[in-house]
Amino acid sequence: MNDPVRVSKDKDVAIITIDNPPVNAISPAVQDGIGRAIEQVNADASVKAAVLIGAGRTFIAGADINEFVKMTSGKAPRTNFLPTLLQIEDCRVPVVVAIHGNALGGGLELAQACHYRVAKPDARVGQPEVNLGIIPGAGGTQRLPRLAGVAKAVEMCTTGKPISAIDALQAGILDKLIEGDLLEGAVAFAREVAGQPAPKTRERNAKLGNAAENAATFAAARETVRKKQRGLPAPLAAIDAIEVATKLPFEKGCEEEARIFDQCLYSEQSKALIHVFFAEREVAKIPDVPKETPVLPVNSVAIVGAGTMGSAIAMVFANAGIPVTLKDSDQAALDRGLANIQKNYAISVQRGRFTQESVNERLKLIATTLRYESFADADLVIEAVFENIALKKEIFAELNSACKPGAILASNTSTLDLDEIAATTTRPESVIGTHFFSPANVMRLLELVRGKRTGKEAIATCMQLAKKIGKVAVLVRNGWGFAGNRMFMPYLTEAQFLVEEGASPEEVDKALTAWGMAMGPLAVSDLGGLDVAYRVRQERRHALKPGERETFVESKLCEMGRLGQKNGMGWYKYDEDRRASVDPEVTALVRKWSIEAGVPQRKVSADEIVDRCVYRLVNEGAQILDDGVALRAGDLDTIYVNGYGFPAFRGGPMWYADAVGLKKVSERVNEFHRQHGAIWRPAPLLEELAKLGRTFADFQREAAHAGS
Ligand code: CAA
Ligand code: NAI
Repeated sequence: MNDPVRVSKDKDVAIITIDNPPVNAISPAVQDGIGRAIEQVNADASVKAAVLIGAGRTFIAGADINEFVKMTSGKAPRTNFLPTLLQIEDCRVPVVVAIHGNALGGGLELAQACHYRVAKPDARVGQPEVNLGIIPGAGGTQRLPRLAGVAKAVEMCTTGKPISAIDALQAGILDKLIEGDLLEGAVAFAREVAGQPAPKTRERNAKLGNAAENAATFAAARETVRKKQRGLPAPLAAIDAIEVATKLPFEKGCEEEARIFDQCLYSEQSKALIHVFFAEREVAKIPDVPKETPVLPVNSVAIVGAGTMGSAIAMVFANAGIPVTLKDSDQAALDRGLANIQKNYAISVQRGRFTQESVNERLKLIATTLRYESFADADLVIEAVFENIALKKEIFAELNSACKPGAILASNTSTLDLDEIAATTTRPESVIGTHFFSPANVMRLLELVRGKRTGKEAIATCMQLAKKIGKVAVLVRNGWGFAGNRMFMPYLTEAQFLVEEGASPEEVDKALTAWGMAMGPLAVSDLGGLDVAYRVRQERRHALKPGERETFVESKLCEMGRLGQKNGMGWYKYDEDRRASVDPEVTALVRKWSIEAGVPQRKVSADEIVDRCVYRLVNEGAQILDDGVALRAGDLDTIYVNGYGFPAFRGGPMWYADAVGLKKVSERVNEFHRQHGAIWRPAPLLEELAKLGRTFADFQREAAHAGS
């Protein structure tokens, strides 16, 4: 293997290049290499300054996260990057770090230990560790407040959001932006500062503030974290570590940071979040669609149906700079769609997410039409008309004649049979499902549905495009509800059973939100519309097994005209601002109906609510894996974390089940099976893995190796 750190010279300036593709993560080899490079610089009297730079597409994306997995599973000792950073800071000559792309986590901590920091104007810097359930562990909580001030350090370390080079310059994190060639500019800068005393960040205390100001900053930050990052200890731990920086000398601060870092790293939460990080990247790996699969250029998109989904999907493409044409069957529908888009953009401007100028640019990319003529040039067409198979088939037949050969024809259907839709065309290899989630311009998840004859090029193209438009695409096979909604239906049903057995709607929702779900299942039903769920139940009745238990309370609420948020009353009642409150009428009615139906009434505990709802997800997920609808357990976790408000800190439903232990999960599922009958039939895969003492993650590895 090539040495990931090399030293070269430009006359009197040493150039230390970190070259560890793809993102220059700091592995033990990189760490050793940096240490040796500094020794070399110290030993060479002709060197007057050094530049530290990254090769490839980015500076440094942080510590190598794989190493954390090895450490917490006992396969590697805990490494310590701190001494290497002290070595840089104590270097005989000034070290200038030159940043392009991202300087994240350990990458930014490395930069903080250098004497000067220069960057390309489009670079970004950040401390994203909290997203992995940890805190900066290489002095970041001690050096960043010394460079950027306490408030900025708190903001960066708690939110984990990177900031632009321009913001970093203003904050004092960077010393200079370099237009043009970065290395050339950094070398010139290094020559300017050569021979001058090099500032050591660890000795800069001017920005550490005073006790009274800091106390207010920390109190406000803790309050914000408790509200906005519910259930996450890492952001609070980061504040603790920064607080130490303001009270103890640097060396003591680093010791304390290391102690807090270890506490976070070895927690279940951090393991779950690291799983989420890697699972989100693994979804792109499809065994029979290798990286080299040709992709088609997508420079223009057309959408059929300017309703809720079509108009929001149009925004997604406009936001990515891709021109999009929106078609509907009449002008009034098109006008409604455009008004919807304008309203959404106006809210974004109000909230400071976009400027009016950038919204105007985006709006210019959205054209509307009532005819198919302009579809002839589209590289991708997405159908988003009513969920009706006959209508969708008609439209695909029309698209087949209107679109150029090779164009990808996608359907946004959430339940219908993609193969039946594809069969109306002469090019089923170009037909794919692009199941966006609502609101499509906000939700990150995109379920890509592979029909029997969907071609590899269409899959590879949509996978790549998803990344460009800021979505996480997960490939699933065709089948009712695909993966996400197929799992969600039993979950929602179980919530209703619990109400019928004696829990109140708010007890069910509270138990699950306290556990970490973004919304309770009954509040979700209100959001989606009780009428929508009602229709799905009617359509799915044929799939019920003889004697299988059926829910009834939600259907009765719907039949009496309670449709959910859309008419201000469903499981809850809603005010004009769509704020929910408990409706005593619902509480009384559901009790009355349940007693009339002969369901024995009892007090249901929060633990039972969580186990029953979450294990329905897990059991169906196991069946989905067995059926080959999803490739890996991690794919289901990615779907749930990004599309259904499942708490990332629990890793997704399948990871959670592995963490609980499949033996224990299976015992509980069997207990529910005895109590509630066929709906709880344990999935054979769950039983098999539990018996063998294995995990869904093991199954994931085998599936990935076996091909699809
Ligand atoms: N460690 C190990 N592998 C990493 C990595 C890291 N820090 N960052 C990215 N990778 C890997 C990815 O797993 C992926 O691998 P595959 O190609 O095998 O799937 C590859 O690098 C490319 O990553 P992306 O697909 O994410 O590429 P991108 O261009 O879309 O995004 C990025 C690049 C913005 C840097 C993104 O990868 C990212 O956010 N990385 C993680 C940043 C992070 O969390 N850093 C903190 C680490 S913890 C730390 O540093 C602790 C400390 O205090 C010492
Ligand atoms: P919608 O009812 O809001 O919009 C459908 C649009 O299609 C309307 O504007 C209608 O005028 C138009 N339309 C109907 N026939 C047409 C034709 N022949 N030619 C052109 N336009 C026509 O529906 P929504 O909610 O946007 O759903 C669209 C699709 O997305 C459905 O398949 C649905 O299952 C799916 N979906 C919906 C989600 C949601 O939360 N609303 C989530 C994920 C998928």
